[in-house]
Amino acid sequence: MTSTQDASPHVPAAGSLAAAPGPEWWRTAVIYQIYPRSFADSNGDGLGDLPGITSRLGALAELGVDAIWLSPFMVSPQNDAGYDVADYCDVDPIFGTLGDFDAMLATAHGLGIRVIVDLVPNHSSDQHRWFQEALAAAPGSPERARYIFRDGRGEHGELPPNNWESVFGGPQWDRVSEPDSTPGQWYLHIFDSSQPDFDWTSPEVREEFRRILRFWLDRGVDGFRVDVAHGLIKKEGLPDYTPPADGDSMGGDDDDVPYWGQPGVHEIYRDWHEVLAAYDGDRALCAEAWLPTPDKTALWVRPDEMHQAFNFPYAMTDWEAPALREVITESLRAFPAVGAPATWVLSNHDVIRHASRLALTGESPQGEGIGPLSPTQPIPGLGLRRARAASTVMLALPGSAYLYQGEELGLPEVVDIPDAARQDPTWFRTNHEKYGRDGCRVPIPWEAAAPAYGFNETGASWLPQPAEWAEHARDVEARDPRSTLSLYRRLLSERRAHGLGAAPFAWLEGYSDDVLAFRVGDVTVIANAGSAPVELPAGGILISSEPFEGRMLPTDTAVWLARD
Ligand code: NOJ
Repeated sequence: MTSTQDASPHVPAAGSLAAAPGPEWWRTAVIYQIYPRSFADSNGDGLGDLPGITSRLGALAELGVDAIWLSPFMVSPQNDAGYDVADYCDVDPIFGTLGDFDAMLATAHGLGIRVIVDLVPNHSSDQHRWFQEALAAAPGSPERARYIFRDGRGEHGELPPNNWESVFGGPQWDRVSEPDSTPGQWYLHIFDSSQPDFDWTSPEVREEFRRILRFWLDRGVDGFRVDVAHGLIKKEGLPDYTPPADGDSMGGDDDDVPYWGQPGVHEIYRDWHEVLAAYDGDRALCAEAWLPTPDKTALWVRPDEMHQAFNFPYAMTDWEAPALREVITESLRAFPAVGAPATWVLSNHDVIRHASRLALTGESPQGEGIGPLSPTQPIPGLGLRRARAASTVMLALPGSAYLYQGEELGLPEVVDIPDAARQDPTWFRTNHEKYGRDGCRVPIPWEAAAPAYGFNETGASWLPQPAEWAEHARDVEARDPRSTLSLYRRLLSERRAHGLGAAPFAWLEGYSDDVLAFRVGDVTVIANAGSAPVELPAGGILISSEPFEGRMLPTDTAVWLARD
């Protein structure tokens, strides 16, 4: 372990490049992220919903995924697209009802698909009953103790308690008016001002989240994706902190960021581990913890904590073979070393879709997004070619992989969303300086010729869909053996047939630096991230990310070869 955090007795001796042992489903699963507002809209209001999801689950069974993860659909004013929860145990009417959720869950289970829901424990909405009670109560009251209220600095408390900057821009503090209308205390929000952070030193907060976990476990969910799982505990005294200028706003690039990865966070997950362990069926917790290395991320998945953690160091690696080789090697060492599976992910609702991100003309730090006036733009065509190769590599790797809705269609980031349609709080909190994440959240296309490409029957869409998306519609791609959808179907079916999720992994020697070459189980994978064609070793081509003739693998192409 390279981290200075929480040196603990839970870490067994380091393993080698091996898949983690054990039969639990989450060790090898391919998990498909549904962003409910953009997946399928049953009532035509332009916003996806739970009955819409239920109606389209058949397509995911056909694709061959093992599980789905749903971004939040709980009661919320939607200031951060549902990551601002006002009631953790009910469905927001814009998405349906608890009955619709139960029907969706039963349909998914009937198709053999497990269901993970999103849990947002770092902060609630400011419309949550508890926060409203805190505002109405006095400083020092039990109601305020559930959140992080502090007196301000300065003679009259007119300055925020410290200098922390919100992930979405601006300060992490807002000042409240006390019930008697005088300027009062400040409350902490790592994200938007409508997302006050809970105080996780409060026993009441801890008990409430045990209750919330059990509420969804009792309904039959198979696990939770835990939002901002590295942020719940803040360093005592809330000391000032200035992040490095080029740092990633979500990740502690520094070793000791007072609001990311504080050691005290781990006991919360040990507690939750116990809550889940009391249920049958291998229920799982997956950490959304933005940490700079696999070693640091692995601290969240020690045997008595969470089961999986997103591998963001992998997701953020460019299409460069040496860097990919390093992060894959590190991941296949660090996660199994603590008894956990490695995980793999290339896209989600917070990052530029990888069909655009892997061929940008310049940098675009995570969360900033790209828009029509960004100096950095995707290179048309190249991004999709690289994305298909990158997914062909990812889906061969042992462990568990996450897909984000629409990547199986090769969807690009939507760059030219009109300013008036943008909704990400980042856009507003940075005075339109950062475009934010709307470009990866546009409702996905199902049928080329239908209104809103089959997202619904009315043609309404909460973010406008680009005219070029007809070619990416699922019905078009399903008919085309060369489409990205056909590629993903093959990858998932061969991955399963060859048991790659749990197969032993080894790098192959003798290739140039810009080639990834490895064996996993009985499959050989070669990916060419360089500029010259690469001669393939023996073995019939099982899958190729692009069509080509002969045995010379073109640039930006990946293949799976069957062992002779
Ligand atoms: C991470 C979520 O993925 C993101 O969409 C959200 O804005 C923040 N956490 C705050 O909840």
